[in-house]
Amino acid sequence: MTDAATPSIGIHDLALATSHHSLDLESLADHHGIDPAKFTVGIGQHVMSVLAADEDIVTMAADATARIIARNGTDGIRTLLFATESGIDQSKSAGVYVHSLVGLPPTVRVVELKQACYSATAALQFAVGLIARDPSQKVLVVASDVARYDLGSSGESTQGAAAAAMLVQANPALLAVENPAGVYTEDVMDFWRPNYRSTALVDGKGSIKAYLNAIGGAWQDYADQGGEPFESFASICYHQPFTKMATKAHRHLAVLNGQNPTPVEVAAYLEDTMRYNRLIGNSYTASVYVALASLLDHADDLTGARVGLASYGSGSVAEFFGGVVQPGYRDHLRREEHTAMIDTRVPLDHTAYEVLHKTTLPEDGREYRTTAERAGSFRFVGLNEHRRLYERG
Ligand code: HMG
Repeated sequence: MTDAATPSIGIHDLALATSHHSLDLESLADHHGIDPAKFTVGIGQHVMSVLAADEDIVTMAADATARIIARNGTDGIRTLLFATESGIDQSKSAGVYVHSLVGLPPTVRVVELKQACYSATAALQFAVGLIARDPSQKVLVVASDVARYDLGSSGESTQGAAAAAMLVQANPALLAVENPAGVYTEDVMDFWRPNYRSTALVDGKGSIKAYLNAIGGAWQDYADQGGEPFESFASICYHQPFTKMATKAHRHLAVLNGQNPTPVEVAAYLEDTMRYNRLIGNSYTASVYVALASLLDHADDLTGARVGLASYGSGSVAEFFGGVVQPGYRDHLRREEHTAMIDTRVPLDHTAYEVLHKTTLPEDGREYRTTAERAGSFRFVGLNEHRRLYERG
């Protein structure tokens, strides 16, 4: 349902970035004496992205955003919305560092948004609203996160890291966002990270139930608002803390809609949305947009097709909405870039992964330098008097 009087608004360009390193989940399984099939089949994850010492949410976000700007320039961009739950500062938006690293002009408003894995979707909807008010404006929506759980915890295999940068504008090249959106909020403690912790706390099994319940609620609201029929979606991109979760969520929505797909049918329906996430791991706010990039990069021609986005953030907020894939979208994809980014990560052995996981930053304001691993790219250089230092290579 889109009002004929308003121009279509949506995602014009979508670029992903991930970490310098990766860890094969078979080596994690070996280390813990677990059958690797629990990870590769049971949760549907093969590899996870692991940040180098000189990377963080800012460097990944800057990587993705710089590629958007290299292709599209900065004309018309007056807002940058930075979505994350891996904030590096309680006051200053990580987006302000990105703004400076990628050379955006001062006439841009920048703000950071948080609600677990959901906030990039809120940012996208806010962007659509701003552009509806003034269709000459463009908005950068940047989602960047690192998913971290304690070593040896059941969540450890569902870690990962990535950023997704989107240029949102009128008459988009990739996906026109449709009205309505279905939303659902419920106060649950399924996953959270108190300010004094660098790793998340989670009620694993409870979080799966909370996710399904919230996605079901968002779908019901979408239907109540006059949304399109379930059968009209050529594909649905779900938030993917691990890819098996998307299959559970899709089956849940299918059953709510009177269908009873087999596991093979569900897997086939979702396969193109899961290719990148399976190799990256959970990227929290970015995850559902990594799924969208994966779908657009891999599916046969989707021109004119309706795609669903099912976003979930623990705590919890969920949203379901649709978008229509635009004519000519294939000329605007970044499949080679995305594939190279995933394939050229440097694999870690388990010992090196543990060392990185245990590395902490000093909290006393002393001078500190990170090991230089990302030559020629955006780097988190270190700390000076409690200030984070970045450089563009
Ligand atoms: P667990 O409890 O160790 O695993 O951790 P399990 O025993 O439940 O096994 C997982 C699956 O593997 C099961 O399949 C097993 O049967 C299967 P299922 O019954 O679910 O279909 N399995 C095997 N399959 C093949 N061969 C084998 C084998 N062994 C077992 N040998 C859990 C799993 C997801 C709980 C854990 O990884 C965790 O706590 N992860 C973090 C929380 C999470 O990702 N929750 C997802 C929903 S919440 C969410 O999405 C929000 C989030 O992204 C945060 C945010 O919003 O900010 C997390």
